[in-house]
Amino acid sequence: MAKVRTQYVCQNCGYNSPRYLGRCPNCGEWNTLVEEQVETNSAPAKKATTTLTGLVAKPQKINEIDSKQTPRVKTKLNELNRVLGGGIVPGSLILIGGDPGIGKSTLLLQVSGQLSDEHHRVLYVSGEESGSQIKMRAERLKVAGDDFYVYPETNMDSIRDTIRELKPEYVVIDSVQTMQATDVSSAIGSVSQIREVTAQLMQIAKSNNITIFVVGHVTKGGALAGPKILEHMVDTVLYFEGDLHHTYRILRSVKNRFGSTNELGIFEMHTNGLTEVKNPSEIFLEERLQDATGSSVVVSLEGTRPILVEIQALVTPTVYGNAQRTATGLSRNRVSLIMAVLEKRANLMLQNQDAYLKAAGGVKLDEPAIDLAIAVSIASSYRDKGTQPTDAFVGEVGLTGEIRRVNRIEQRVAEAEKLGFKRIFIPKNNLKGWTPSTGIQVVGVSTLKEALYLALG
Ligand SMILES: Nc1ncnc2c1ncn2[C@@H]1O[C@H](COP(=O)(O)OP(=O)(O)O)[C@@H](O)[C@H]1O
Ligand SMILES: [Mg+2]
Ligand SMILES: [Zn+2]
Repeated sequence: MAKVRTQYVCQNCGYNSPRYLGRCPNCGEWNTLVEEQVETNSAPAKKATTTLTGLVAKPQKINEIDSKQTPRVKTKLNELNRVLGGGIVPGSLILIGGDPGIGKSTLLLQVSGQLSDEHHRVLYVSGEESGSQIKMRAERLKVAGDDFYVYPETNMDSIRDTIRELKPEYVVIDSVQTMQATDVSSAIGSVSQIREVTAQLMQIAKSNNITIFVVGHVTKGGALAGPKILEHMVDTVLYFEGDLHHTYRILRSVKNRFGSTNELGIFEMHTNGLTEVKNPSEIFLEERLQDATGSSVVVSLEGTRPILVEIQALVTPTVYGNAQRTATGLSRNRVSLIMAVLEKRANLMLQNQDAYLKAAGGVKLDEPAIDLAIAVSIASSYRDKGTQPTDAFVGEVGLTGEIRRVNRIEQRVAEAEKLGFKRIFIPKNNLKGWTPSTGIQVVGVSTLKEALYLALG
């Protein structure tokens, strides 16, 4: 007999509690616990996991497993291939998360069209749009294809049957929050549903070597709804991000069983779809004012690719109350820490100053090597003294005001040189055992004070 039990599940992190709690003790979010019903079988029915072809999986000797690697499938979008670690690994489950309206459906529709152009069979399952809506969008994006099937459905049993009949090589599930597994009684979009739907998709992908792209919406906090559980289950997690008011979109891998993480793919959104951006540095620097104060350029390494980004700071006296610290595209904690170091180690009186920091172009940066550029921008704005427009900055700032070594310095310096920068400030320790090229002046600095003196005078 199946018993039905009620539990409260955090919709943010999946934490279970037998009773209602106002605040999730696991992730600290408020009002995220929702009542869900779970069936507990006193004697769980034993089901062999069968593949869609009806075969039962058996243990195999590792020596007998055919290790012939199926080659990765390259899409026409190189930026997507890069983020996936060189192309699609057949049979993988790929989650694409992002805010509503950012372009997840657009991207997957374009990829589906391209794959079907190359004679792969694609099934696009949509729980959000009707067939004619998808068709209208496809026409706008000029997506067609003979082997491209669109299927408005949310019931997992029907989807499974259709996959069995149609035998597609690629399946798109748009979105996981709209799908329903019939053996789970919780509401569509709840953690239990999402978990079960994903588990079923994983099984379909692995046992039949079908690649499945799953769209997942993101909550206002920036996490996937029912997020952590999902991230653990799938092979690859890509986030599609960007500012809705800008045309740039950034695809970032945060988990990849088949490649490195933090790779970036950069796209531009037009009415007729997403196009690739081949030289992102040029774009992020495009609107830079040459003689402004509070601006400096960092060479940030996102994944394996260096990108030059302008970091802007505006420091103004606090009018009343506590000093404000606001950061867009940068971590606020990092900014606060650097301001404290500037105050203590470089004698900048910042405690009565509001500071607004921004990584230009809607990009998000999160690596220690951006510290020095943040510090230089803040100091430049505070002292109302501009940096040289042809200077770039790379370095981590330590609590004693030291500039700490960063990874892949050669690549960063080469990118700055390529984009016409004349001088780059780097950690002095990075110069040990390395003679940089002569096309750009490389200045090694060991303290923040020294860097500010050399850059701003
Ligand atoms: N008819 C249209 N003409 C031009 N752009 C459109 C049109 N419809 C949607 N878009 C663009 O596509 C975006 C929606 O992308 P979509 O792929 O539906 O996002 P998601 O699936 O992530 O919610 C919108 O923000 C808009 O910029
Ligand atoms: Mg969509
Ligand atoms: Zn939680």
